[in-house]
Amino acid sequence: MTDKKLRLGVNIDHVATIRNARGCGYPDPVRAAKMAALAGADGITAHLREDRRHITDTDILRLCDEIDLPLNFEMAATDEMLAIALHHNPHAACLVPEKREERTTEGGLDVVRGFDALKPYVTKLSDAGIRVSLFIEPSIEALDASKALGAPVVELHTGAYCDAPEGPERAAIFENIKTAAAYAEKLGLECHAGHGLTFDTVAPIAAIETIKELNIGHFLIGEAIFVGLESSITQMRRLMDKARSL
Ligand code: PXP
Repeated sequence: MTDKKLRLGVNIDHVATIRNARGCGYPDPVRAAKMAALAGADGITAHLREDRRHITDTDILRLCDEIDLPLNFEMAATDEMLAIALHHNPHAACLVPEKREERTTEGGLDVVRGFDALKPYVTKLSDAGIRVSLFIEPSIEALDASKALGAPVVELHTGAYCDAPEGPERAAIFENIKTAAAYAEKLGLECHAGHGLTFDTVAPIAAIETIKELNIGHFLIGEAIFVGLESSITQMRRLMDKARSL
């Protein structure tokens, strides 16, 4: 594995979304995580939301017990989630903003105004040996605040980049991501990225060498309906590796 290697974290939340639509036991997100491992994922990401709309407490327990890959536990900065994280001791915890009324995680954490509220969570997770990452917008202010909070990792929100129409708007957001990723490295922060990435949008992000990991879920699970999960992940992996080798 070279330094250039870009890790792929597969987010399996939406396997659970489909399962929960019927309230039965299938499709099983843990089975998807096992398949993701075989297809070349470097880690598994799962978001336990306050309302348990997709991943459940039992899923987290089973992921910890049955999966060999590192688990990136996405969580809101609440006492309930902190207790769960400390109980399971996952490889990493990614702090994300969470609102019940949102369809997905619509923006990054407000690490500037939320600094004092976030600090104890970063500290307690870090003290337990859990690698904390902060899901932020690609801005210099957010990176400075993340550094000051003491998190070793940031994940840049790529949702706006993916949602923007191809052309100058997307290009401008892309430049912000590139600049933020370079600044993160300068600050000594490991930089990840994710949200909304697809086969069509992944390559430019994957080509940014200061980004070390991408977390991708919704598109991969949707594409799996047509080509199967293994093939969907393998193709994403191929696109990432190709972009990285340029
Ligand atoms: N990274 C973070 C922090 C997220 O909250 C999500 C969505 O749960 C993702 C990555 C993956 O986004 P998507 O499912 O759109 O690929």
